Amino acid sequence: MAVARGQTQRRKSSTHESFLRHGGFLFAKLSVALCVACIAAYFLQDAHPRPSGGTAVGYVLGILGAVLIVWLALLGVRKRAVSDGHYSLKAWVSAHVYLGLSLIVIATLHTGFQFGWNVHTLAYGLMLLVIASGALGVWAYATLPKTLSDNRGETTRKQMLAQIHALDEQIHEAAQPLQRAEADIVRLSLEETDIGGGFWRRLLGNYGDCANAHALASLGPALRVATGKEAEALRKASDLMQRKADALSLARRQMHITALLEAWLFVHVPATFALLAALSVHIVSVFLYW
Ligand code: HEM
Ligand code: HEM
Repeated sequence: MAVARGQTQRRKSSTHESFLRHGGFLFAKLSVALCVACIAAYFLQDAHPRPSGGTAVGYVLGILGAVLIVWLALLGVRKRAVSDGHYSLKAWVSAHVYLGLSLIVIATLHTGFQFGWNVHTLAYGLMLLVIASGALGVWAYATLPKTLSDNRGETTRKQMLAQIHALDEQIHEAAQPLQRAEADIVRLSLEETDIGGGFWRRLLGNYGDCANAHALASLGPALRVATGKEAEALRKASDLMQRKADALSLARRQMHITALLEAWLFVHVPATFALLAALSVHIVSVFLYW
């Protein structure tokens, strides 16, 4: 079971490492060829009064762009219905990335470089947003998993959480001999510390109000004046809380990276739906008003 999971993990990461090079850059070459053909068609046409979405070449480029967009949007469906392993998905993602990028050329030539404050340009802008977020996703897949494993060392997420809970138990134990006021401060760390928090918190990595950090700082003055057994117990509790702060910062960094890995999809997918809607309006409206 563990071996099987390890293999899936390895296959998954190799999917993300090498989809760009899939088949000797097959889809990159195909996309470049497609773009060259479109550029040639654009400049060889004899358009009157000037190139636009309404000329013959304009229509061909527009239809090609729309077909590509619908096909690219189907990756979401394909991802959830992978039947023959990750390798065919790798080909899909490779084609997705390169053909997706070729849309910058195809759709721009389709417009004949005519933009305005209208639903046509809205569709174009949304397409660029989808493409830019996709590029961000490729960057995230290529660089972040390494940062994740560097950060994590040998410790898995589960082990990190277990470590924090174990420290909590030791802190609780260490706080027993403390006086009421100091014990209340330590309880802040035990009861109010938010390890990860919601998605935005994890994404921004903003933990300035960490209860453990506050508690640790508040113990400082007591630590300076305490003597004897009280000082010993305080030192022990604060050492443990310092270790908890280190463990928290490692776990939070890991959650921050995982959130970054997910974040771009929160733009890519909704913007795809908005693009499909704007594109439908664009196509219907040009047929109604032309
Ligand atoms: C079936 C596919 C498509 C058809 C039939 C189509 C049709 C047209 C037509 C007839 C025009 C000229 C309108 C005019 O000059 O007033 C046009 C312009 C334009 N199209 Fe498309 N189009 C298609 C796909 C796309 C796609 C995929 C995009 C980009 C996402 C796009 C973005 C634009 C833009 C920005 C313009 C310029 C609008 C302007 O003049 O302000 N179109 N399209
Ligand atoms: C207009 C063009 C595009 C559309 C409509 C589109 C749409 C989509 C959709 C619907 C998904 C599935 C998301 C999910 O359900 O999890 C997806 C995934 C993805 N897209 Fe795009 N995309 C476009 C262009 C691009 C571009 C240009 C890139 C890269 C430069 C890109 C990179 C990705 C990546 C890396 C994934 C995730 C694949 C995986 O999970 O293995 N996309 N895209």
